[in-house]
Amino acid sequence: MITDNQLLQPVTSYEKIPVTIFSNADEACKAVAAEIAQLIRSKQKEGTNAVLGLATGSTPKKIYRQLIRMHREEGLSFRNVICFNLDEYYPLPAESKQSYRHFMQENLFNHVDINPGNCHIPDGQAGLESIKQLCEQYEKLIQDAGGVDFQLLGIGRNGHIGFNEPGSNISSLTRLITLDKITRSDAATEFSGIANVPRRAITMGVKTILSAKRIVLLAWGEKKSEIVRQAVEGPVSEFLPASYLQAHHTASFILDETAAALLTRRKAPWLTEDVEWTKQLVKKAVIHLALSCEKPILKLTNNDYNENGLSSLLVLHGNAYDINIKVFNWLQHTITGWPGGKPDADDTHRPERSQPSRKRVLIFSPHPDDDIISMGGTFQRLTDQGHEVHVAYQTSGNIAVADDEAFRFVEFVRDFNRQFQISSPDAERIVYNSDACLKQKKNGEPDIPELRFVKGLIRKGEAKNTCRFVGIPDENAHFLNLPFYETGTIEKKPIGDDDINIIAALIEQIEPHQIYAAGDLADPHGTHKVCLDGIFAAIKRIKHLEFMKDCWLWLYKGAWAEWDIDIIEMAIPMSPEQVLKKRYGIFKHQSQKDGVVFQGTDSREFWQRAEDRNKATADLYNKLGLAEYEAMEAFVRWKF
Ligand code: F6R
Repeated sequence: MITDNQLLQPVTSYEKIPVTIFSNADEACKAVAAEIAQLIRSKQKEGTNAVLGLATGSTPKKIYRQLIRMHREEGLSFRNVICFNLDEYYPLPAESKQSYRHFMQENLFNHVDINPGNCHIPDGQAGLESIKQLCEQYEKLIQDAGGVDFQLLGIGRNGHIGFNEPGSNISSLTRLITLDKITRSDAATEFSGIANVPRRAITMGVKTILSAKRIVLLAWGEKKSEIVRQAVEGPVSEFLPASYLQAHHTASFILDETAAALLTRRKAPWLTEDVEWTKQLVKKAVIHLALSCEKPILKLTNNDYNENGLSSLLVLHGNAYDINIKVFNWLQHTITGWPGGKPDADDTHRPERSQPSRKRVLIFSPHPDDDIISMGGTFQRLTDQGHEVHVAYQTSGNIAVADDEAFRFVEFVRDFNRQFQISSPDAERIVYNSDACLKQKKNGEPDIPELRFVKGLIRKGEAKNTCRFVGIPDENAHFLNLPFYETGTIEKKPIGDDDINIIAALIEQIEPHQIYAAGDLADPHGTHKVCLDGIFAAIKRIKHLEFMKDCWLWLYKGAWAEWDIDIIEMAIPMSPEQVLKKRYGIFKHQSQKDGVVFQGTDSREFWQRAEDRNKATADLYNKLGLAEYEAMEAFVRWKF
């Protein structure tokens, strides 16, 4: 529950709107759902209605889950609730799987005792000529209901609230708008391609939203952190509609840690409060200082510290020269060409232990290509340096294979079998059913299990090809096909016992000295986060075992983002040749080349994203005054 205290907590000098940060989205959703429930109950006591303004999208889903739980377990009734949804795609029939009407029915309305007549959502299939009137009616309905008591909002990556895209006027009301490119590409996955995303939508206006008595904007995950920073700390601007909330008297932002990561209180906490100068914070502050002064660390002066809010560091540590050297050395010690430890070397200042000199290494790859994309250079070094390297592919990755790619393989198998008169009932069935499915499938329809099997095999073959290219034996590639992933749709199941057992069994079988995992703590909806949760749960289960005492867990970043440089604990440099070799390793994933099913807004191919990111890390080290490398892969150690 969000307390008055939290609401009234002083806004830092940088934040222009109250912000509450929770450790994760689950905790935040519990608190917001409790506030909504309290509103509903207090209105019930008064014998009046609670009027809710509701949002769709991935962000509020857990709030609705909590409300359903409270309805079932705590008797929370929705009989006095009137809802107005923010928006609806246009044109789009209500029964379409992607419509917000469908979303609300599935995620809330069908599971609580709300009167269906009280659930208002703009009509996405009204005739164009009646839209204006319909929008006016929507405004009137809200007013007749007494206005919105509690408005829930998400935020688009372009700063939209509802579908009020950049440029929306502060006095805008419910209307038909044109969706902008970022919004449409963010919806592309749901619609199986941007071409199928409607170009327009009906949305409550900014004024409609600002008329609510209480407004809560939610944001989770790294993807939202930059726009959240601008909305909270930047000027009010029509180009960032969420910034209009700065002027509302009870609006607040509810964030998880990752969405809040770029706020000044997190990025440079010494500027907003008195801090305790831990080693980590000193490192963060000095790197921040060097980057903002555009100077290498060893050239920072007392003046630079004094003029940038860091005089307290000087008081504590003496002069700039001493602090500079300390931080420079800390950074220097993260760089190593020996990810498995350097045999027979003094390892006091090295990221990895030298013993045992030949380690058993287990790399977890959420999808079949994350190993090579995110840590291909390190994978290669570990193999070349004689360690026993295993890779565990956690999911089949089948939904990312395009239909025409699958068709090619189905056709190949059919022709091959015919040519040599090979037949088996199972093979016939798989080929026949896949072929039929590929020919009949409509946009957005899930693949049948047979087709998923074919697509999974395609990706398995590519991963095996990469492993051979890097030089590990076939038996060291483990395909876990975790069950949580096998829904055939973008929406996955939460991690379950079956998944955790499979992961734990493999760790027990290999008894690794090092585990590498995709550490996308930031991506609350993604497969990477679920895969990581599975690893954490498995480790928790078996960490009492003897071999686990000698097992270190290194996290790489799975997507194209990189760790903040101040938390990197091991940086593996790459030469130009190694960069090229990694590129060829990525090329083995033919089904993921030349445009992929889930391209997102970034039109670069995976090898380009990987190279840009690895080069950027090397450049950053270099800017701070460390040696100049072509590229670098980076890791953070997770202590369990
Ligand atoms: C949805 C809506 C949008 C979303 C926003 C964030 O009704 O009005 O403003 O809240 O696009 O979407 P997600 O939550 O999917 O990131």
